[in-house]
Amino acid sequence: MASGASAMQGGRWRRAWEAIDERLGLSGLAYPVPTHANGIGYILGGITFFGFLILAGTGVLLAQSYNPTPAGARESIAYIMNTAAFGDIVRGIHFWVANLVMATVLLHMGRVFVTGAYKRPREANWLIGVGLLGVTFGLIFTGTILKWDQEGYEALQHNIEIGGLLGSFGFWFTPEFTTVLPIVGRLYMAHVVILPALGTLLLIAHFLLVKRHGISSLPAAADAAVEGTGPAPEKGGSTFAAHLIRMAGFGLLILAGSVVLALLIGPALGERPNPAIEVTKPWWMFLAFYPLEDWFGLRALLVAPTILVGLLVLLPFVDRSPWRSVRRRRWVIVAGAILAVGLIGLALYGGLTPPVSHVQDAAG
Ligand code: HEM
Repeated sequence: MASGASAMQGGRWRRAWEAIDERLGLSGLAYPVPTHANGIGYILGGITFFGFLILAGTGVLLAQSYNPTPAGARESIAYIMNTAAFGDIVRGIHFWVANLVMATVLLHMGRVFVTGAYKRPREANWLIGVGLLGVTFGLIFTGTILKWDQEGYEALQHNIEIGGLLGSFGFWFTPEFTTVLPIVGRLYMAHVVILPALGTLLLIAHFLLVKRHGISSLPAAADAAVEGTGPAPEKGGSTFAAHLIRMAGFGLLILAGSVVLALLIGPALGERPNPAIEVTKPWWMFLAFYPLEDWFGLRALLVAPTILVGLLVLLPFVDRSPWRSVRRRRWVIVAGAILAVGLIGLALYGGLTPPVSHVQDAAG
């Protein structure tokens, strides 16, 4: 009896879905999903996507009370934390999900790197991914400045000085670009319009290419097919719905984790900025560059990221063999591991050494 009732309910859901799908064509978005694509390594991109949805939702809520002016920015954050309904928790979720998303983007890229999934025919999707990585860094950087506390102000000074180093190309990053709107207003626009719009376009292209190529097969199966010792890997095995449900499940875990973190360790708001001092350090994802700035000056902040992006862009064109498994790509894996360990080492060093003054009062 009970199973008959649940079957009827299942039938109702199916009919409702079919009616919606007939009109919206949503099933056209689905792509074949191999069983291994439901493992954590292959679901990191989807988790990142759900993280971005949470950031967009909490960002819209924060924008209701944020005032993007030098006189009002920090005070409006204090208002969000102390007065706005659920403001502190929304801000905490936004902060923690931003951190988690950065971690999942890097892990997703690491998985694609280790499994050689950037190789033909996915080179273009790798390059789009590099663009998405840049957008993620840009969102976090501009977000830090919006707080307009000491940390935000020092990040802005770096922004301005790097803009100066770039000469005419960096003009947009300097306060002189327009005199009627303070730079914090333009960086706010970058944070809520320019970067999200660019990120959305890149994400649409990223997903269309995932749909076009399917999710890559496991490296060992791909290599066996190239050698002729195994069959062509199957594209399916699981279903798109199962894949989506797992992504959403992990997305909800991220949300739950960030709520707990927001309740336990809410993000701080520093003092009103003092232009005469430089005492803060950047967030963890920028820390690897901090010692480089100590040793080689501000120019290192331009040169080092350019080299890193250059290496990422070149990767699929340098590593062109058909092999995907780690043991057949030892030199690429070793080079990647050395780079990753080097960056982690620099970040740890940057995190443990006392803060150093790098820039003059550029924004004052
Ligand atoms: C910023 C956010 C990003 C999102 C939301 C995202 C999302 C996704 C999703 C959902 C997939 C399907 C398979 C999976 O989850 O692993 C995927 C695949 C892929 N992504 Fe991303 N991605 C992002 C960034 C990146 C970055 C930084 C790179 C590399 C530089 C990259 C390169 C790729 C490649 C090459 C594939 C195909 C992998 C395969 O078929 O195995 N993505 N991405």
